[in-house]
Amino acid sequence: MAMHIALAGKGGTGKTTIASLLIRYLIDTKKGTILAVDADPNSTLNLALGVQVKKSISDIFNEAKNIDTIDNAIRGNYIKEHLPEDALTHAGDYDLLLVGVPQEAGCYCIPMTILKSNMETLDEKYDYMVIDDQAGMEYLSREVITRLDIMLIISDPTVKGVRTAGRIRELARSLNIEVGKAYLIITKTADAAPLQAEIAATGLELIGAVPFDEQLAEYDLKDQPLVQLPPDSPAVQATREIFRKLLAPTA
Ligand SMILES: Nc1ncnc2c1ncn2[C@@H]1O[C@H](COP(=O)(O)OP(=O)(O)OP(=O)(O)O)[C@@H](O)[C@H]1O
Ligand SMILES: [Mg+2]
Repeated sequence: MAMHIALAGKGGTGKTTIASLLIRYLIDTKKGTILAVDADPNSTLNLALGVQVKKSISDIFNEAKNIDTIDNAIRGNYIKEHLPEDALTHAGDYDLLLVGVPQEAGCYCIPMTILKSNMETLDEKYDYMVIDDQAGMEYLSREVITRLDIMLIISDPTVKGVRTAGRIRELARSLNIEVGKAYLIITKTADAAPLQAEIAATGLELIGAVPFDEQLAEYDLKDQPLVQLPPDSPAVQATREIFRKLLAPTA
């Protein structure tokens, strides 16, 4: 059964950045087999990882929809067959799955439902599942994934970000989602101390801060994969320490 590690937080706080660095950490420390799930319709995790993706779950759904048949079971079977074959991108040390954008507006629920119905199979196949999402927390509110072993809630060094983090934790509590551990990560600052009172009010445990990293920002500007950042880059160093704590046997 895969360990589910999910990223959540206000828009632009650094979810995808941290997801990609976590995947790199899991690979470097040889923790086991990894599935990276990009549940953001505006997929960027593949860019951060430097991986070319051919098809998303939505693409396969769109193909199935265009099959000339009145039999819905045929469409269902098409999806079942093609999902593991075509939508799982094998990136050497891990696999990547993109939810993608459905053709019609407003039916993001369909690829999400497809993901949900495939969770059990995927769970058996991998040791770790890292789930990156858009700020809207679609997969949370749709209860696509009902067990989160670790929830990493990301905030920028603002009061708003921290409050949103607290609300996300509460949302998860109000849904049918089993959360093992939830942690807060503050990004783009080396010092989370000024936010201490705000953080305490959320009840979340702060696991670490990730400093603003000039080089990371530069990579982003040049569309260069973040996984290529040197090991001594401040963001890589800070996240490595966070992940070590996170995955330590006593954590
Ligand atoms: N530690 C950091 N130092 C410098 N820049 C950073 C850092 N973390 C994230 N950024 C920058 O902040 C921006 C947003 O980061 P990222 O895409 O990871 O956020 P996100 O939470 O996934 O956003 P979205 O909600 O749009 O999915 C990017 O331009 C990224 O390069
Ligand atoms: Mg993102």
